[in-house]
Amino acid sequence: MIETEEAYAKINLSLDIINKMDDGFHYIRTVMQSISLSDEITVENVPGVGVRAGSIRVGSVRVGSNLPFLPGDERNIAAKAATAFFTYTGIAGYDTLIRINKKIPVCAGLGGGSADGACVLRILDRMFDTRLGFEVLEKIGNSVGSDVPFCVRGGTRLAEGRGELLSELTPIPKCYTVLCKPPVSCSTPELFGRVKCEKIRARPDTDGIVKALGTGDLRGVACRMYNVFEDVLTLGKAEVADIKHKMIDNGALGAVMSGSGATVFGLFDNEADARKAYDKLKPEYKECFLATTVEELGLRT
Ligand code: C5P
Repeated sequence: MIETEEAYAKINLSLDIINKMDDGFHYIRTVMQSISLSDEITVENVPGVGVRAGSIRVGSVRVGSNLPFLPGDERNIAAKAATAFFTYTGIAGYDTLIRINKKIPVCAGLGGGSADGACVLRILDRMFDTRLGFEVLEKIGNSVGSDVPFCVRGGTRLAEGRGELLSELTPIPKCYTVLCKPPVSCSTPELFGRVKCEKIRARPDTDGIVKALGTGDLRGVACRMYNVFEDVLTLGKAEVADIKHKMIDNGALGAVMSGSGATVFGLFDNEADARKAYDKLKPEYKECFLATTVEELGLRT
């Protein structure tokens, strides 16, 4: 059994942190959006001898990719997702090989690892004809990582709590985005650790974004975007500011950092402006991409 599917990256149109919860995680409010930048995931399952776990044999899961530094074991979210699927369903005895053709930059705030994990869940649900559906896959995904539930079906959604409380929103009008990652990597736990909730000075207008989406007002969305992590950046602060300015100067309706960064994206209502901004930024920043927004996935059978 072998199947291939695209795993779409996400951007955060808003990212707000409300408070720190008793479990150490933060209660966030974020409008998330899938985009066409994607990894290609291939999952192959063969009946196998498996590996010993205590007194029983279970299937083995391995991950390979075009990036030699990506872990091939359970440290990789894609492997974690496969193991969580097999644990939930009780399916055992298969050796699973996951191949990732990585195109989404890693440690970039674009949810690449989460997208891969969610994609593995969708593929396995189809392959084994378990018909769990999106809601159950989201629940399994939640045990794997905070952004995985959103990535299961993607589209335009409000995510709250750790990221697992998802509400449907009016899809964003189809538009273009330019993504540009400065050559720094931000640690997500470290950034969360730096945020003092009572001291947050600027916040996105998440409710305003939700309203603007409801009326198809792309400008209204773009002018209300903000990410509270931008205030606590140290590494890459100057580059993030520079990229935001260049996006706006080249026709972006708004520009903001995605997730825990340091990728900045600009939103554009036409391809010509998006291409102009891309052409301006690409010579300076190697990791620069042009993408479109992507709607929620349907269930494939
Ligand atoms: O769930 P995930 O593995 O993506 O989270 C990585 C880290 O980010 C967590 O260990 C936690 O420190 C932090 N985090 C948080 N609040 C969230 C999501 C993540 O504090 N809502």
